[in-house]
Amino acid sequence: MTLPAVPTVSLDDIRSSDPSRRARAAEALKLGFGTFGLVYVADHGLTAAEQDRFYDSFHRLTKKPESEKQTWARADLWYQRGWTPPNTEKAVAAGGQPDFKECWFNAPMDYDEAAARLHPELYAPNVWPEGEDEFREVYTKVGKLLHMVGETLLVGVAQSYGLDAQTLVGLVQGAPHVFRALRYLPLSTEQADARILWGEEHTDFNLLTILPGGRFLDADEKPCAKPDEASGLFLRTRATAENPNGTLVPGVAPPGCMVAQVGQQLEILTGGTLVATPHVITAPKTSGYSRLSSAHFVHLHTDVVLAPIGPFRTAASVAAYRPPVLASTYDLKTLVDIGLAPREALDALGYRHYDRLASAHENERND
Ligand SMILES: [Fe+2]
Repeated sequence: MTLPAVPTVSLDDIRSSDPSRRARAAEALKLGFGTFGLVYVADHGLTAAEQDRFYDSFHRLTKKPESEKQTWARADLWYQRGWTPPNTEKAVAAGGQPDFKECWFNAPMDYDEAAARLHPELYAPNVWPEGEDEFREVYTKVGKLLHMVGETLLVGVAQSYGLDAQTLVGLVQGAPHVFRALRYLPLSTEQADARILWGEEHTDFNLLTILPGGRFLDADEKPCAKPDEASGLFLRTRATAENPNGTLVPGVAPPGCMVAQVGQQLEILTGGTLVATPHVITAPKTSGYSRLSSAHFVHLHTDVVLAPIGPFRTAASVAAYRPPVLASTYDLKTLVDIGLAPREALDALGYRHYDRLASAHENERND
C-alpha cells in the first residue's frame, strides 16, 4: 500500500471566513494528524531572516565555556528552564541511551500564577544568560509566534471535528508551554559508523509540538546543506496488518513550511483519532556535523483531566485511555521517566497524604 503524502495546512485557510478554505484545512488536518500524526504548516509568519537571527544568537550561546553554561543548568527546576547539559535527557523507550544534544528551555508565554504555586518546577520564571539581550529578545519573539501557530492549529482541529472553535485553545491558556532550542552534537567517526542516533525514537508527551526547522553545521561550525539523506527527522507510520511495525518515512517540510506534530495528550483527548507518532532524529553518516534546531511544546493546563472529550468520548476510547489522570501528573511522571525530574518527585503524589494524616492524628492523640 502506498501512503498519501503528508499534507500541508495553510494557517490562512484555518483563519479564513470562506467555508471552502476552512474545509480544505480540515481535510489536511484530519489526514495529516490522523494518519501521520504530523502536518506541514504554511503561512505561519516566521521569516527566514528572523529564524536566522534566532539560530545565530543561539549558536553564540552554545560556544560559551562549559563552566559558564553550568551556571544556567537548573536540575532543581527539572531542566524546564535554562540549559540542559548533554547526555541528560533520554527517550522513554531508549534503553537508557541519553540523546546527544544540549538544550535551552524557557517559557515564551505568560503563565497561570495560581498553577505556579502548585507546580513551581513546571511554571518557573525564565532563566536568561547575562549580557545576551538579543538572545532573550529573539527567543521570546520566535517562541510567541510559534505558540500562536500552535493555537491556530488547535482552532483548526476543533473546527475539523465539529467542536466549538475555542474548545482546545481554552484548555491551554496559561499552561506550562516551553520553547526549546537544541544543538545536536557532532559525532565521532566511531559513533557515526555505529549509527548512533541524535534523538532516540519517542512520541512527544505534550499536546502539540511546533518545529520550525533547523540548521546543519559542518565540522568548522559553518552553516551547510543537509549532509546526506540519512540525517534528520523520521516518523513511524501507524501499524497495518501487512506492516505491523509501521514504516519510517522522512518528515522534511517543503521549503518555507514548518512541521507540527501530535503529542500523547492530544491523542488521549481525541481518543486516538489523532495519533502521537513515534519519531527519531538520525545523525549524518559522516562524523563532525552538528545541528541547531528548535521546538515549541504546546501543553495543556495542568488542571485538565486527560481523557477523551466531546465527540471522541466513546465506551471504547474511554476504556483504551483509562484511567484519567491530571495533565500535571502526566507531565511529572514523564519528566521522571525521561531523566529530567528526580524519582523522588513522584513521592509528592497522592499517597504521601496517608503519612501526613497519620502523623496529624498521632499528634492529636498525644495532645
Ligand atoms: Fe520529539
